[in-house]
Amino acid sequence: MSRRCLIVLAGVLATSASTAQVPSPLDPATVEAGRAIYGENCVACHGERGQGAENWRQPDENGNLPPPPHDASGHAWRHPDAVLYHMVLDGWRDPFNKMEDLTMPPFEGVLEPREIRAVLIYVKTLWTPEQRAAQAEESRDRPFPDEAHTPVGHGRP
Ligand code: HEC
Repeated sequence: MSRRCLIVLAGVLATSASTAQVPSPLDPATVEAGRAIYGENCVACHGERGQGAENWRQPDENGNLPPPPHDASGHAWRHPDAVLYHMVLDGWRDPFNKMEDLTMPPFEGVLEPREIRAVLIYVKTLWTPEQRAAQAEESRDRPFPDEAHTPVGHGRP
């Protein structure tokens, strides 16, 4: 993507963030960094636009749940920041899965704490303003850990 295109995109996101009046603003530089991280690490399973796998509610042949969407049709927004952070850091499997293995791979040692925060901030741009507001409220007591707050990319802190 060209630099010019990135700047325009960042502007669009900044506008949508401010009209949505989200309590914690989606810093455009962090969103852009998160989008790139998502493209490299998450697209293969969660889809280009965060749409998840088809039939993501149906367990596969092993009895495991396929990758869910991250967009407004999914339920990632129901988890506070601290929980989302640990799902990505430590990996995750639905407790009802039949297999012991983690179907959501752990990213510890792959992504830095601030990169995990950035990719999740990008994911927030896929939600509706109402979902973002509700999730921000939930995250008030369960925020990202302190070590995740170093900025990613070239933006403001
Ligand atoms: C190898 C495939 C795979 C990759 C790569 C992957 N995921 Fe997942 N992810 C899954 C699966 C499968 C689940 C559902 C696990 C379950 O519920 O059993 C999941 C679940 C999640 C959840 C919980 C969602 C919810 O609605 O409860 C989050 C958050 C998540 N992934 C974020 C990410 C992020 C961010 C990345 C990239 C850094 C990523 N995942 C990369 C397969 C993947």
